[in-house]
Amino acid sequence: MDESSADTLPDSLVVVSNRQPYSHEWVAGPVDGPVEDDDVTVTEATGGVTSALDPLMRARGGTWVAWASGEADMAVADDGIVPVPPGEESYRLKRVPLSEEAIDGYYHGYSNQVLWPLCHEDTGRMWGDPAFWEQYCAVNDRFADAVRTVTDADELVWFQDYHLALAPRTVREARPDATLHHFWHIPWPAPSVFEHCPHADRLLDGLLACDVVGFHTAVFASRFRRCVEATLPEATVDEDSGVVHYDGASTHVVANPLGIDVDGVRKRAKAADTAAVRRRVLGETVPDPSIPVVLGVERLDYSKGIPERIAALDHLWERRPDLRGTFTYVQKASRTREGIATYRRYRQDVVSEIQRVNDVYATDDWQPIAYTERKLSTETLDGLYRVADVALVTPHRDGMNLVAHEYPTACVDGDGALVLSELAGAATQLDGALTVNPHDIAGIADALERALELDDDERRDRLERLQESVAALDSRHWVERQFAAGPD
Ligand code: G6P
Repeated sequence: MDESSADTLPDSLVVVSNRQPYSHEWVAGPVDGPVEDDDVTVTEATGGVTSALDPLMRARGGTWVAWASGEADMAVADDGIVPVPPGEESYRLKRVPLSEEAIDGYYHGYSNQVLWPLCHEDTGRMWGDPAFWEQYCAVNDRFADAVRTVTDADELVWFQDYHLALAPRTVREARPDATLHHFWHIPWPAPSVFEHCPHADRLLDGLLACDVVGFHTAVFASRFRRCVEATLPEATVDEDSGVVHYDGASTHVVANPLGIDVDGVRKRAKAADTAAVRRRVLGETVPDPSIPVVLGVERLDYSKGIPERIAALDHLWERRPDLRGTFTYVQKASRTREGIATYRRYRQDVVSEIQRVNDVYATDDWQPIAYTERKLSTETLDGLYRVADVALVTPHRDGMNLVAHEYPTACVDGDGALVLSELAGAATQLDGALTVNPHDIAGIADALERALELDDDERRDRLERLQESVAALDSRHWVERQFAAGPD
């Protein structure tokens, strides 16, 4: 965080998120008595929120409140608090321990079986078990309590994402003079979808306890305001200023697209030994070091549109036999939310579809699709992006999608093409991608064909436009814009 940008930021800050920026694991199982440094390892989270907010917290100090999800998290903390980052200790991490029952209801339940499908407009997957809502309320109260213990009366508190829609209201009651911000990282649904939610009014009431609520795009912010109008008759909405008046207070509802740490990605991509990355990640399945790579990188989430992408590859190789053997599609996948049956089934479906397509087209010296669930360091991942000739990012819906930012940024050789779903937030922000409807299998195949066959000038021009539009959204600007949107 450079000094000029730091000047516009608050002196100290409380960030609240479900996932923590650092987690502790036992090296060789739990120890009795005091924990020594070599009993535990610390892992830094790699997501967009940590990469945007950790530099801010390091520069300004404050407290980050999050779920104690690592095995040794509470053992190393004193009253739930541990100084971070390890060795530097510039801010405090306040951990909230949760019981199995709480995790099941709040995380696997309400957050990911009600709010996630609702906001991704996939209401057929919603499941409204009564214990889910009960635990979501209870855990939001636990987070609010933790926030209360670490905040002064007029501090700035910034809540992150759909896990924490209710906590702001409870914090507001205890800290009427605090400035509260929320950022909703996933899509906000249209009113005709949001009305499926049995707790629509409570969720809006919780969020409207904030001074500022941010979304990645103007469409999500406007839908939120329309949902308020449709759900809370006592609220008034000023569409010109984006301000909602409710319960004697005002909430600025703003569009504030999140970006990435552009310099960090560029630096790591430049430093990467691409031949070594290829060998290490793809060595066994893609032995030919010269064959072009088409890449997909995602969590195994049903919103990501992976089966349609595999079907599009099948369609393309069927329609264009001359393209068989000319590139390999690499699917880098991460297991996710495996406590939920839908996610376990999705993974099986993806793996078996890939197997089926490989069985149809593979030859002795060519594997059409390489699949890996290996955890990759950010250095290796940025190197892999640089290796890839084309990236396919085709979610059904996505709040933003930062792979669409990382890939072109890592193409430091000036060579790369992005096929991007028009239903990802990134499509409304980035210029230069080949956009597709994520359900249009023939359309994805056509866009991939085009991406592979772009002439050099167009390929370079599109990539430059992508890189410029990504750079304009650097994560530092996200932080500054969010605070600039607040009350004076
Ligand atoms: C999305 C959400 C994040 C979440 C991430 C990973 O990007 O917006 O809040 O952390 O998915 O999901 P997980 O359930 O593993 O936290």
